[in-house]
Amino acid sequence: MSQFWSPLVHSLTPYVPGEQPKINNLIKLNTNENPYPPSPKVLAEIKAQTGELLKRYPDPNSDVLKQTIAQYHQLNSNQVFVGNGSDEVLAHAFQALLKQDKPLLFPDITYSFYPVYCGLYQMEYQTIPLTENFEIDINDYHKESGGIIFPNPNAPTGRLLALKNIEDLLKKHANKVVLVDEAYIDFGGESAATLINQYPNLLVVQTLSKSRSLAGIRVGFALGHPDLIEALERVKNSFNSYPLDRLAIYGAKAAFEDEAYFQETCQKIIQTRHRLTNTLQALGFNIIPSAANFIFVSHPNYPAEQLAQALRKQSIIVRYFNKPRINQYLRITIGTDAENRQFSQALQSIIQTTP
Ligand SMILES: Cc1ncc(COP(=O)(O)O)c(C=O)c1O
Repeated sequence: MSQFWSPLVHSLTPYVPGEQPKINNLIKLNTNENPYPPSPKVLAEIKAQTGELLKRYPDPNSDVLKQTIAQYHQLNSNQVFVGNGSDEVLAHAFQALLKQDKPLLFPDITYSFYPVYCGLYQMEYQTIPLTENFEIDINDYHKESGGIIFPNPNAPTGRLLALKNIEDLLKKHANKVVLVDEAYIDFGGESAATLINQYPNLLVVQTLSKSRSLAGIRVGFALGHPDLIEALERVKNSFNSYPLDRLAIYGAKAAFEDEAYFQETCQKIIQTRHRLTNTLQALGFNIIPSAANFIFVSHPNYPAEQLAQALRKQSIIVRYFNKPRINQYLRITIGTDAENRQFSQALQSIIQTTP
């Protein structure tokens, strides 16, 4: 606290990201990163761009990347916005599109950055409880609001909402923006990007941090009607002209061009998720069906927080949220098969030795 802070800063409760400990040989299953490295073609391209040209500013519009993403999703470049991680894209969307006179709606259990953006931009919001099974029931959203946002699959539950439900929502709420945050869509869901030409109120946000193993270069993007994209550009150009550096622009472009590597790593993660789900079920865990690169689990006999602490003693970190409704759950990122074997063995030994 300081007398020099603005009144707004006094009121903020910032987001707390999952920790990035500086410990060697850690099994890090806490922030939903990809356990596989970026495509070798991406690394080669980043190296190729690391030269004298770094003395120049990058292209403020990231045109080559927008064109690549537009082609990938069969859209036009003016239907694509890119930003410094999807967190930045989301932040601009809150300010440019979701800040309205009526409150924004999102699930009670969801990405915890959403209420933080509302705080930053002084927006009203209302949370809509997930069903008892942690599902989004779109009927619960049929009320007065200034917009709707949810991740699909949801985080931290991993549950997927079917595309036909999203389409129903878009039809029923044609006069407001529905933002679908698809950070984890590539691990088993069907993207709503195919609906963009039909629904001018739809904004889809994706990231290269998860399915494309590029959390370290911070690239996210939005797909939507050119009017929605223009709103985002207006905010971006009032905030930072160069959100993507040269290495990010070309590295991200190369990631979209290596479809085979992308498919292979996504499939490996999906298969490991199935194996881990079976192993944990055999240990008596309840597992929420997941279409993401993490699973959300609870055990009837062992408190989640205690399990997380015991795992940490063995240098394995998972995410525990001390929040209502989910404080008996652990969110476990899908690692490599080797990491998940070690994780399962550690969990088994903890359970066997805990009274
Ligand atoms: C639902 C959801 N949206 C967005 C993000 C932000 O991803 P990034 O800023 O790395 O693109 C995350 C990251 O964990 C997430 O879980």
